[in-house]
Amino acid sequence: MNREKLSKDDATTAVFGSEQMLQSAPTEFIPQHKTTPEIAYQMVKEETYPQTQPRLNLATFVTTYMDDYATRLMNEAINVNYIDETEYPRVAVMCGRCINILANLWHSPEKAQWKAGAVGIGSSEACMLGGVAAWLRWRERRKAQGKPYDKPNLVMSSAYQVVWEKFCQLWQIELRTVPVSFDKPTLDVKKALEICDENTICIVPIAGVTWTGLNDNVEELDRELDAYNRKTGYEIPIHVDAASGGFILPFLKPEEKWDFRLKWVLSISTSGHKYGLVYPGLGWTVWRDKKYLPGDMSFSVNYLGANITQVGLNFSRPAAQILGQYYNFIRLGFDGYREIQQSSMDVAQYCHDEIGKMKCFRNYADKLVNPLFIWYMDPEYDKTAKWTLYDLQATLQQSGWMVPAYTLPKNLENIVVMRIVARQGMSRDMADMLLSDIRNAVAEFETLQYPTQSRLKYEKQEHQLGKVFTH
Ligand SMILES: Cc1ncc(COP(=O)(O)O)c(C=O)c1O
Repeated sequence: MNREKLSKDDATTAVFGSEQMLQSAPTEFIPQHKTTPEIAYQMVKEETYPQTQPRLNLATFVTTYMDDYATRLMNEAINVNYIDETEYPRVAVMCGRCINILANLWHSPEKAQWKAGAVGIGSSEACMLGGVAAWLRWRERRKAQGKPYDKPNLVMSSAYQVVWEKFCQLWQIELRTVPVSFDKPTLDVKKALEICDENTICIVPIAGVTWTGLNDNVEELDRELDAYNRKTGYEIPIHVDAASGGFILPFLKPEEKWDFRLKWVLSISTSGHKYGLVYPGLGWTVWRDKKYLPGDMSFSVNYLGANITQVGLNFSRPAAQILGQYYNFIRLGFDGYREIQQSSMDVAQYCHDEIGKMKCFRNYADKLVNPLFIWYMDPEYDKTAKWTLYDLQATLQQSGWMVPAYTLPKNLENIVVMRIVARQGMSRDMADMLLSDIRNAVAEFETLQYPTQSRLKYEKQEHQLGKVFTH
């Protein structure tokens, strides 16, 4: 940009009086010259302005609010690398305590002082660690039996989160899925067992299905699997992907059996950065007992006054989230977690009820089991509507909200739904603001004379795919 310079920039030049703020930001090459920290800061900050405010992002499951003390603790630990255990042994101890706390919350039968577990960057790493352990255990057993071990498979519902596709592709494991249906949107246990065989490394039920917010029935799976394993002689275990549910069920449904109280549940993963209430990235995996964690995956350190087993895909990782998790356990305790999860549930329930009252919408499930839910357009209303949920998503975005519209997984792919994930930081007042924005948007749509572009596209697709559920 051309600017006649009035004076040369110096330390007193105001950020917005500087030459650099008239330059484009670097996109390909490192700039030749230095810039003052104030200007560099401002240029980076500018890039983030048009983004959604994290608290208004109702698409994510990941924590967008922590209190000031947690934030302070985490900021103070921003320069600590978790893997440097010799330098920061107390971080490793706190990590071990978090694993212990989770293991006990999930009713681990393990007697050892330090339970078998691992910290990860999120549930993706945590799921992969659970998957790798199951695969290695299966391989060892096959080797010991003198049987081939080149065709492993993993069984779960088609409503899996993409991490499982990644895991199976990266480790060359066949992903066998039970298609979900409109009436059975969670894992069909009978069908899951029908596609198992001697090469099945594990079955993965989900507590807090990403697409719908529902829970697979782990107790039923465990019961049926027990009978199946006894009949076949296989020893197919369960890894529970409890990315969201791992921090909801123990507090809100303590009586529900989905965890190590069940015989075949050998490992569980969760996201500390989802309902664990810690900023990203933090995931946890816990094994039922050390014997289920293959030696190939772990190494022990003995300089902490005890043997602590370490497992992970990554080496370096930030320590701050571990401090945040341990802080939350101390600060909130069981009661505090229960109150916060219940509040998220109540806000989600309120939104669910209000959306259910609107004639243009229909909730997918009658009952909420996690603080999130999906809804779709009422089929009668849909017949004459000139808009879609994608239009609603775009309109809400103009007021800063991110409420995603998307199609359900395979088999239900022509059902467009919308999802709200209520998390700590979503108050009743915010819910009222959101609902009012939704109502206003719908009122505007109802004045439309002609269908929107997205409506035209939707009708074309619907025509091609055919309806998959009867209304
Ligand atoms: C069921 C489930 N598993 C795994 C993941 C991956 O979690 P992360 O984003 O923590 O890697 C998610 C994320 O939404 C999820 O919902």
